[in-house]
Amino acid sequence: MSNLVKTGISGLDGMLYGGIPEGNQVVLAGGPGSGKTLLSFEYLYRNARAGATSVFFALEEEPERVLDNARVAFKDFDDIDALIKRKTLVIDGKDPATVLHGGSSGGGSQYEFGKVLSEIESLIVSTKAKRIVIDSLSVLEMLIAEPAVYRRSMLSLAGNLRHLGVTSLLTAEMATPERSKLTFQTEFFVFDGIIVMYERGEEEEKRLLGMEVIKMRGAKHSFITTPYEITSEGINVVSTQDI
Ligand SMILES: Nc1ncnc2c1ncn2[C@@H]1O[C@H](COP(=O)(O)OP(=O)(O)OP(=O)(O)O)[C@@H](O)[C@H]1O
Ligand SMILES: [Mg+2]
Repeated sequence: MSNLVKTGISGLDGMLYGGIPEGNQVVLAGGPGSGKTLLSFEYLYRNARAGATSVFFALEEEPERVLDNARVAFKDFDDIDALIKRKTLVIDGKDPATVLHGGSSGGGSQYEFGKVLSEIESLIVSTKAKRIVIDSLSVLEMLIAEPAVYRRSMLSLAGNLRHLGVTSLLTAEMATPERSKLTFQTEFFVFDGIIVMYERGEEEEKRLLGMEVIKMRGAKHSFITTPYEITSEGINVVSTQDI
């Protein structure tokens, strides 16, 4: 059995019976504002603290904004700057406007997709990253109009990340935040794992959020939808299977 990489997210490692098999690429899908960016940031923060070089590649928001939002949400993470200074935690990215408008190269969006991928790969190599987050696949999808080409591109991304040996979280926007209406893009099935974050409905004034592991190659995992909350100490998945 392969090594398990702890996500470090309270309760999630319990749902995964220890963590994500090393080298797996996991899609983190969820509705708008479900906490995809914050959860994937926390995954890198926890892994950086444990000594694994961790790279966040932001495509939806500027890297500085990701960092600012994480600082505000996770007030108790007081060593973010120290980790960044040590280069154990690297927050990088590419301006979405440049990506989506083909930059000044005029090479078209598929060309731009290739450029983004090779930029991510170079960053993994130059930083010797062990963990990576790409936030999000949905921006990359916008670059490629043809479904067959998008599917091939996702296959090549999965293959390249596997080759580089990183354990990754790739965020993806779901069309609906509701479990009952959940459908998956077939493209996601080329990846090793899928975790979803969605709304379980409203209870009085409170928004109820739930997390579920849909699949995780090479590992046993919980199939139970488990509530989670975003707290200043990090994301807390209220799992009964903590180990
Ligand atoms: N301090 C906080 N305490 C509790 N919840 C917070 C806090 N800060 C942010 N949130 C919640 O986190 C959500 C934003 O999280 P995040 O940016 O990770 O979501 P996302 O799924 O990446 O969203 P998007 O689809 O816009 O990319 C907010 O909508 C809010 O509900
Ligand atoms: Mg986000």
